[in-house]
Amino acid sequence: MCGIFAYTGRKNAVPILLDGLSSLEYRGYDSAGVYCPASGSVKSVGAVGNLLKNIDGLSGESGIAHIRWATHGEPTEKNAHPHRDCTGKVWVVHNGIIENYLDLKKKLAMKSHRFSSDTDTEVLAHLVEEHLKKKKSFEAAVVQALREVRGTYGAVFAYETEPDKLVAARMGAPVVLGLGSHENFVASDPSPIMRHTKDAIFMKDGEVAVITPDTHTVYNLNFDRIDRAAEKIEGDAEAIKKGGYRHFMLKEIMEEPDVVKNTLRGRLLTKNGLAKLGGLESVAERLRGVKRIIIVGCGTAYYAGLAGEYMLEGHAGLPVEVEVGSEFRYRKPVLDNSTALVAISQSGETADTLEAVREAKRQGILTLGIINAVGSTIARETDAGIYNHAGPEIGVASTKAFISQLTALALLTLFLGRQRGMSLAEGKRIAEELTRIPEKIASILKDERKIKAVAKKYKDCRDFLYMGRTYNYPVALEGALKLKEISYIHAEGYGAGEMKHGPLAMIDGSFPTVAIAPSGSVYEKMLSNIQEIRARKGPIIAVSTAGDKMMRQFASDTMFIPETIEMLSPLLAVVPLQLFAYHIATLRKLDVDRPRNLAKSVTVE
Ligand code: AGP
Repeated sequence: MCGIFAYTGRKNAVPILLDGLSSLEYRGYDSAGVYCPASGSVKSVGAVGNLLKNIDGLSGESGIAHIRWATHGEPTEKNAHPHRDCTGKVWVVHNGIIENYLDLKKKLAMKSHRFSSDTDTEVLAHLVEEHLKKKKSFEAAVVQALREVRGTYGAVFAYETEPDKLVAARMGAPVVLGLGSHENFVASDPSPIMRHTKDAIFMKDGEVAVITPDTHTVYNLNFDRIDRAAEKIEGDAEAIKKGGYRHFMLKEIMEEPDVVKNTLRGRLLTKNGLAKLGGLESVAERLRGVKRIIIVGCGTAYYAGLAGEYMLEGHAGLPVEVEVGSEFRYRKPVLDNSTALVAISQSGETADTLEAVREAKRQGILTLGIINAVGSTIARETDAGIYNHAGPEIGVASTKAFISQLTALALLTLFLGRQRGMSLAEGKRIAEELTRIPEKIASILKDERKIKAVAKKYKDCRDFLYMGRTYNYPVALEGALKLKEISYIHAEGYGAGEMKHGPLAMIDGSFPTVAIAPSGSVYEKMLSNIQEIRARKGPIIAVSTAGDKMMRQFASDTMFIPETIEMLSPLLAVVPLQLFAYHIATLRKLDVDRPRNLAKSVTVE
């Protein structure tokens, strides 16, 4: 998720653009840049402040600006937006993912276009250049160019030949027009606009807007003019950054249907039951020879790895072991070249995980990353990998990243399984169910109020046990971690079969147990464990499959999830637990986004 901001008016655009970018830094901050048709462009790696070092020569009464969360291409100055065409007259800033950018790039290169970045975004500028050659107007060239694009964009185009005109476009990524007096604005969200004007047009998918200091016109992709009335921007800037939600954590949980879509985007060949993972192409043949996988991660990433173990062993026939980074690096792991190490990390900077990667590389084994932050240290030091495309995760408690990690592990399972004899039918079954996961998560999110009511009932308990089996044993661990790290309540995750080997001794009427018991191969076993607890008067909070009437006999409270295949049940079962933890912590009036003693990225041992 990147931030775009543009201005055209009568004032010096540069300070306005820089100020606007600062309010968008929550959307990503690995590089930034500004282009003014009157004087050129400045870009820098890192946060907006770094732009100030060489901004002196820049001025003009219009411009486009961008703050980047890298999706394609490392976070370097050459990959920073704005991007230009061959002539240097057409410039663009973009938020989103151009799915068919490689095909477009090939076609443009055959017409002698030369590219100066590794990004998907740059093709947009060259496409407009191509259509301008056909003597089209700037805005008509943009519309024609966008008709060739597949994917998502919130974009603004500038053209040196018409310096006061900007062309904005929206498809799947938000774009807001700010309407001022002899000045107009475009942004990814209202936060940089509202200090100038509260009059706005929230663009819709498939719309293109042409703005000058005194005019704004909206078109569809057939270049038909559309009448759109302005409305008032509501709320304050902080609320807008959180998407209107009270906390980033809740916003990020609510983003999870889209996060799964973005992680899957362009990677599922459903008809052939295959996963297309561009980040693994360079090592695909080496992966055929891999006979053992070691997954390494910390905290939530480690729990995602545990779920991945069940996926890979169950559907790809690969032996897997999972280790926390802080332990792996001090073991004397026995590795050989038929082993591959998979490092899972949202930040890509976790020291314990990074050192595990380095140990594996010292022993010459193949290293892969499942990483959210593009161009991060672990992403750069692993041989290949899968980017999550989950967007920045601001809340310290990981939620959408966990869902994305599970999705990426399911894709990896499909990729490796189909290399190892997984049938077409099985591959299609998994692929088709993956496409249904976003809507299934969305249906759970609609039950937030019911989950909040359950949270309210138990918010004062001092201890919780979370239990699950097979795929949902890692979910029990993750659910317990979510609760303890934001509510500071003692919570333990356990394999349900372990209850009678000790934990059962703690159970009494004041000690609730969260039992993750969706339909599946171990459902009956879970019922037995639940009955063991009920016999000791332990309250049961169940996560069950919708329609499960049996559970009503045993559970004091139930949070329902839709039916799915067992391998993907963790992607659904964890969602109620994230909301449960969130609401207990907010009811206890704690700082959900910044829990005490914790940091978002643990870059020290
Ligand atoms: C999870 O809610 C925590 N914030 C923490 O356990 C986190 O998952 C862990 O530090 C690993 O971080 P990474 O994914 O950035 O490597």
